[in-house]
Amino acid sequence: MWSPAPKAANSHSTHASSPLFSPSLISPDVVSALPPKYTIRPLQRSDYEAGVLDVLRVLTNVGDITEEAWDQRFSWMAKKEDEYHILVICNGEGKVVGTGGVVVERKLYVYESSQSGYERFLLNIGSIHNLGLVGHIEDIAVAKDQQGKHLGLHIIKALDYVAEKVGCYKTILDCSEPNEGFYVKCGYKRAGLQMAHYYGTASVKGGH
Ligand SMILES: CC(C)(COP(=O)(O)OP(=O)(O)OC[C@H]1O[C@@H](n2cnc3c(N)ncnc32)[C@H](O)[C@@H]1OP(=O)(O)O)[C@@H](O)C(=O)NCCC(=O)NCCS
Repeated sequence: MWSPAPKAANSHSTHASSPLFSPSLISPDVVSALPPKYTIRPLQRSDYEAGVLDVLRVLTNVGDITEEAWDQRFSWMAKKEDEYHILVICNGEGKVVGTGGVVVERKLYVYESSQSGYERFLLNIGSIHNLGLVGHIEDIAVAKDQQGKHLGLHIIKALDYVAEKVGCYKTILDCSEPNEGFYVKCGYKRAGLQMAHYYGTASVKGGH
């Protein structure tokens, strides 16, 4: 399993170009498969200026996020070491044209496919080693004028690489029916049913 390299205290939360997670988790295969001059890297604080929120607007209603609010959320995520892995694809001018993330959830059991979930839970509840990790893929978006160039596929492949490297035993995601075919092309298959309970004024716009 991949182990994080030691980091200087808060280094990633202070500099505009410090990565949200270790660049060593970026798939070399995806790097070499990108169109010429395109790059892929972990999210950084300066991506506020590079247009990541505009890209997310193709997915959902992002709202009016101030730079201060962005900074605070970035710092919060950066402190949650090894949990938030949001990456971006940039074009030759350094503008963000695609983004996606995998959030690593730490389970209370060790995954072993031969046992039922409850058996695994009973066997491993006292263990502090090798507890299971599940990746949750979130917020995949490619700028409208960049769709159809396999950037979405590269983002999912890159997130799969991160999830496998950090030791996840599976990665799951929610999507709308019209996007199912895209995820099938990326190697995912339909499994189960999503249910949601929205609170307050949250709506179902964008399905997230
Ligand atoms: C869905 C999205 C991320 C796909 O990104 P993209 O870069 O346009 O897709 P890609 O070019 O990587 O497509 C990869 C393959 O999937 C296919 N594909 C793409 N979208 C598809 C869809 N909705 N249904 C079926 N197949 C699809 C492509 O034709 C391509 O097939 P090929 O390998 O045979 O050529 C992008 O269209 C997008 O950002 N949409 C708006 C936001 C959104 O809905 N995000 C997903 C949230 S669940």
